[in-house]
Amino acid sequence: MEKLVIEGGRPLSGAIKIHGAKNAALPILAAGMMAEGTITIHNVPDLSDIQVMTGILRALGCRTEHQGDTVTVNTSTATSSHIPESLMSQMRSSIFLMGPLLARFGKVQVYQPGGCAIGERKIDLHLNGLAALGATIEESGNTIVCTASRLKGAEIVLDFPSVGATENIMMAAAMAEGMTTISNAAREPEIQDLQNFLNAMGAKIIGAGTDTITIEGVSELTPCTYRIIPDRIVAGTMMIAAAVTRGNVTLENVCAAHLTSAIHVLKRAGVQITINGDIINVSCLTRPRAVERIVTSPHPSFPTDLQSQIMVLLSLADGLSIVKETVFEGRFKHVDELSRMGSDIRVDLNSAFIRGVPRLYGATVEATDLRAGAALVIAGLAAQGTTVIEQIHHIDRGYDRIEQMLSRLGAHIHRVSPVVSE
Ligand code: EPZ
Repeated sequence: MEKLVIEGGRPLSGAIKIHGAKNAALPILAAGMMAEGTITIHNVPDLSDIQVMTGILRALGCRTEHQGDTVTVNTSTATSSHIPESLMSQMRSSIFLMGPLLARFGKVQVYQPGGCAIGERKIDLHLNGLAALGATIEESGNTIVCTASRLKGAEIVLDFPSVGATENIMMAAAMAEGMTTISNAAREPEIQDLQNFLNAMGAKIIGAGTDTITIEGVSELTPCTYRIIPDRIVAGTMMIAAAVTRGNVTLENVCAAHLTSAIHVLKRAGVQITINGDIINVSCLTRPRAVERIVTSPHPSFPTDLQSQIMVLLSLADGLSIVKETVFEGRFKHVDELSRMGSDIRVDLNSAFIRGVPRLYGATVEATDLRAGAALVIAGLAAQGTTVIEQIHHIDRGYDRIEQMLSRLGAHIHRVSPVVSE
């Protein structure tokens, strides 16, 4: 398996452009299924998750092309609404296809996506929402079949502001008969991006970004061309990497408004941040300060997807910090790996108590999930000595060639591929 090898201790400096948002591109590519014809999506990152999604669209009969950062999908040849189990098991985000396929074909067959390294990841809120719109849900074993001759608008209240459930319900409701309201909706920027894409195809949706979204169903959507927002989690990851290496980095093509809570935490830690339009400069010439308490929760609070990364900065800060993870029940798997690099972190239920240490030390560590892997890269950049990161396919799901991004900023990092014996 491929590995990343990092020689730590070098301050990052220079400028990089942030690529498009994985968590916006995935639901938008799924939503494209709702219109017959060719959609063109720009600023799509080249990630393994995107490749899995376009693979699923091809398995459904679509024709796709990925040239540079543009993906085109011709959905006019789509005939199937059965997502192959082998492809579903590669990426739980294939669940985003339920709403679109139900809206277009009146039927969709998927498989329980199952949990992953960060938690159980149930989909009850998705299924309850689709049922409220009139879908019949039949589950047998791990197979789920949803059918609906005609979806009808409904008033839906989410028990939890689930990002995926909000998006699935939005997509299904976009072509339902009548009005739908989603209360306690998730407010992430990726949901606003999905609303803007659906409206560009002729949908009538308002309220994304607030906790109440209103959808007036339309009978047909037409293909469009669209540009994905920048990836706020990749941007946040690079900001933290700049800070822990005591560097000075400029990020281009960033939406600072999507990172308000993360920027606030970094400033509390003593990181200098200046914002100029879609450019953010990050520098940290002194040891970061501890941050008394960080609680992850749905947007606009501190994002769970930056929790493992900020823990690296806190591991090197001066003092005791506490991080409470309230979104996923199992998102501390990076702690053991960071401890092997010399961090002093104690976990009690869903809280981590981090006592800052003067330095971390290189080691051979294993990525357990996407953002935990990103945290280990950050730790390797700051550590004294050499760090080898294994299982880096997790990282490739959300970062487009992370070693190239960081090398452009002066990091000594390279990817080692296994020698294929003759
Ligand atoms: C999206 O996942 C993101 N993925 C995640 O990013 C992100 O961490 C998460 O939102 C929270 O912001 C994509 O957008 C592709 P949720 P999603 O539904 O939609 C529970 C990354 O690193 N829940 O908001 O799956 C669930 O178990 C990934 O890029 C139910 O109980 O997140 C979890 O504890 C990781 N029932 C919590 O809600 C449901 O039906 C948040 O899940 C759905 C969710």
